[in-house]
Amino acid sequence: MRSLKSFASDNNAPVHDAVMRAITEANQGDAIGYGDDIYTLETEKLFREQFGEEARVFPMLTGTGANVAALGHIARPYQAVVCADKAHLENDECGAPEKGTGCKLLALPTTDGKIRPDQILPLLKSVGFQHHVQPKVISLTQSTEMGTVYQPGELREISAFAKEYGMYLHMDGARLANAAAALDVPLAAITSHAGIDVLSFGGTKNGAMAAEAVVFLNPEIAEGFEYTRKQSMQLTSKMRYISAQFNALLSNDLWLNNARHANAMAACLAGKAGNIKGVQITQKVETNAVFASLSATAIEKLQRQYYFYTWDAAKNEVRWMTSYKTTENDIDEFVSAIREALNE
Ligand SMILES: Cc1ncc(COP(=O)(O)O)c(C=O)c1O
Repeated sequence: MRSLKSFASDNNAPVHDAVMRAITEANQGDAIGYGDDIYTLETEKLFREQFGEEARVFPMLTGTGANVAALGHIARPYQAVVCADKAHLENDECGAPEKGTGCKLLALPTTDGKIRPDQILPLLKSVGFQHHVQPKVISLTQSTEMGTVYQPGELREISAFAKEYGMYLHMDGARLANAAAALDVPLAAITSHAGIDVLSFGGTKNGAMAAEAVVFLNPEIAEGFEYTRKQSMQLTSKMRYISAQFNALLSNDLWLNNARHANAMAACLAGKAGNIKGVQITQKVETNAVFASLSATAIEKLQRQYYFYTWDAAKNEVRWMTSYKTTENDIDEFVSAIREALNE
């Protein structure tokens, strides 16, 4: 297997040195398993500082596991989860949400990754009709799979809608850090203060090795989640190593600096690549993803040297992602390779 430089995903970046150090520092002596350890106690405190005193955090192993466990905990199998047709839930979880929750996903069309209340309203005609699934949860991704962000006002509007219709609001926050950095607001402004009931919080794409969490912001629905997590096979015995990663990310604003850097690198890439004749930037670049279209031949040439995804082959659209580790030099080299591939 060749080792190609990657603009495929922030998942492909190495673990941040401070996170690795935190794991090593936690690797001393015995610690009680399954979360009864000092590292997890610290994680709980750090999450409460970010999300408010009512927040209850449950460290998890994967983002898919966090999404499925959270959704399964708040919805019955005859209920439905409304999400975007671009959602990770819908496309990249191998049917785990449907298998793990028993719920149908109702995926709404969107070009920018965001869904809006006026799209959800028509689905509610099914409420009370015993032959149809009952929409119960709205799941938003922040930042979205298209690299865009929901503004706090947009979130509050969806949350008011959810409350009016007795629905819960779930957020897939695999890249919540990037959204908060882009909006320059605290994490609470786009979660607890925006009426989100439960959140999957991602550490892995932000510099961790494997650290995801379910965070309940509505304490009424958190009850019993420890059992759901166990049944979801996401209760890890050596939890101290997961918690240590969060403790590193949530100390000294590491999460924020990592996300700001990743976002800045995407803006830099979009600026430089967008100036090349033959490259069109196809989405607003708000966080750390750049969507672009260029000729199929150029894509093919570039993919021999760089690892990245073709997003929509029919439109010759690709996705380039940056991470906390991307440098301006990486961008400059990549931009030269794009020019070469286009024979500019
Ligand atoms: C939006 C989103 N949600 C969730 C995930 C979690 O995925 P995983 O189960 O691979 O940790 C990802 C990973 O790419 C993602 O992009």
